Amino acid sequence: MGKVYVLDHPLIQHKLTYIRDKNTGTKEFRELVDEVAMLMAFEITRNLPLAETTINTPVVETKAKVLAGKKIGLVPILRAGLGMVDGMLKLIPAARVGHVGLYRDPETLEPVEYYIKLPKDISERELIVIDPMLATGGSANDAIHSLKKRGAKQIRLMCLIAAPEGVEKIQEAHPDVDIYLAALDEKLDDHAYIIPGLGDAGDRLFGTK
Ligand code: PRP
Ligand code: URA
Repeated sequence: MGKVYVLDHPLIQHKLTYIRDKNTGTKEFRELVDEVAMLMAFEITRNLPLAETTINTPVVETKAKVLAGKKIGLVPILRAGLGMVDGMLKLIPAARVGHVGLYRDPETLEPVEYYIKLPKDISERELIVIDPMLATGGSANDAIHSLKKRGAKQIRLMCLIAAPEGVEKIQEAHPDVDIYLAALDEKLDDHAYIIPGLGDAGDRLFGTK
């Protein structure tokens, strides 16, 4: 079964509180999501492999570590996942970015895929699927299925907030996928919104409500 990591760094938790607050406006919300995504990228890249190289400091030749050049792909789920891309690219600037467009049908709550564009070599990349919200898990589940169907072999999922229902769904459907969260919340309400959550992530990011 995939592991669940809640990234409880104090800076992440502090910023997440203001992201949740309904009095936080669009500009500040966007900035905070960007910052938290960057901090989460720092945590999620903790295990990247290193290689040894030889360099000259001004005083001596020495061996030193550099990233071994693991290929990473970020895959935001549109729309709200876009809000986390730039923050992550600040730390992983060489990552390629694919996009999966999904929205949740408000009646059926089922995800509907309307767009997909991925780097050609996804089977060689470690992919990080990004979405602020993991509610029923339908959207992330669908996105991960789409990626696997197209050859993806190594996938991790990164979200700001998840409901236990969404985590369970991903763990059942994709036991090979580890999940990274800033918070694991209590439950879903009758409209499949996360409680306490932050409301509609896409609308708050883009000011569409
Ligand atoms: C939101 C959110 C996730 C999805 C989570 O997207 O960004 O993609 O809901 O819910 P689920 O786990 O129950 O599938 P939404 O459908 O509102 O689309 P948007 O990002 O375009 O606003
Ligand atoms: N999508 C959101 O944007 N928020 C939720 O709480 C659930 C799904």
